[in-house]
Amino acid sequence: MSGELSPIDKAKFVAAKRAAEFVESGMRVGLGTGSTAAWLVRCLGERVREEGLRFRGVPTSARTADLAREVGIEVISLDEARWLDLTIDGADEFDANLSLIKGGGGALLQEKIVATASDQMVVIADAAKEVETLGAFPLPVEVIPFGWPTSQALVEETLVSMDVMGRSATLRMNGERPYVTDEGNHILDLHLGRIGNPRQLAMVLNQIPGVVENGLFIDICDQVVIGYSDGRVETR
Ligand code: 5RP
Repeated sequence: MSGELSPIDKAKFVAAKRAAEFVESGMRVGLGTGSTAAWLVRCLGERVREEGLRFRGVPTSARTADLAREVGIEVISLDEARWLDLTIDGADEFDANLSLIKGGGGALLQEKIVATASDQMVVIADAAKEVETLGAFPLPVEVIPFGWPTSQALVEETLVSMDVMGRSATLRMNGERPYVTDEGNHILDLHLGRIGNPRQLAMVLNQIPGVVENGLFIDICDQVVIGYSDGRVETR
């Protein structure tokens, strides 16, 4: 399945493969979104086919749902599952406190709901995702389409009083059109450089009218499985 992989894909693959071993028959498992999570889904599909692993997966995006069905995983909705044993997902950045930036793939809303509804959240990531301070990766903020330029202005105004370096919030595009999430919303990417107080920023952003959710995951992740391009895997 892994064939000849680029160094970055090798790192993602080995992290995903290790985390796939955490899944046991009978579990309800949240399935993340993104290229690392896609490796996880493929590894789990392999376990379903080759070992007879039986579990139910709750995907965090339409993309992940399609892939999970394709590889033979039984897919159920969060409404059906209600509560999950485990969620495994990728991340754009993680720090020493296991605080995360997520949403680079645009699925942060479902990802945060599913991860929060899980006994355990495990992040799978290549080593380049580890940072001392969050914020080099643009922070995604999901906003409803109605009045998004006003939400954008309110977000930028709010950033002035926060412990961050940059202050611009750009609308994510898909070609000529605004990017649309699975929930029909848009995404503002906040170019902050450095987030001094992620907990406070996460709370303040969600108070702004029009903001649905932000990509800061604080006190949600329990463990990170880090993959390296030489095949090593480390768990924090
Ligand atoms: C999607 C996400 C992804 O987990 C994040 O962007 C990491 O993606 P990748 O595994 O492709 O590097 O949050 O919304």
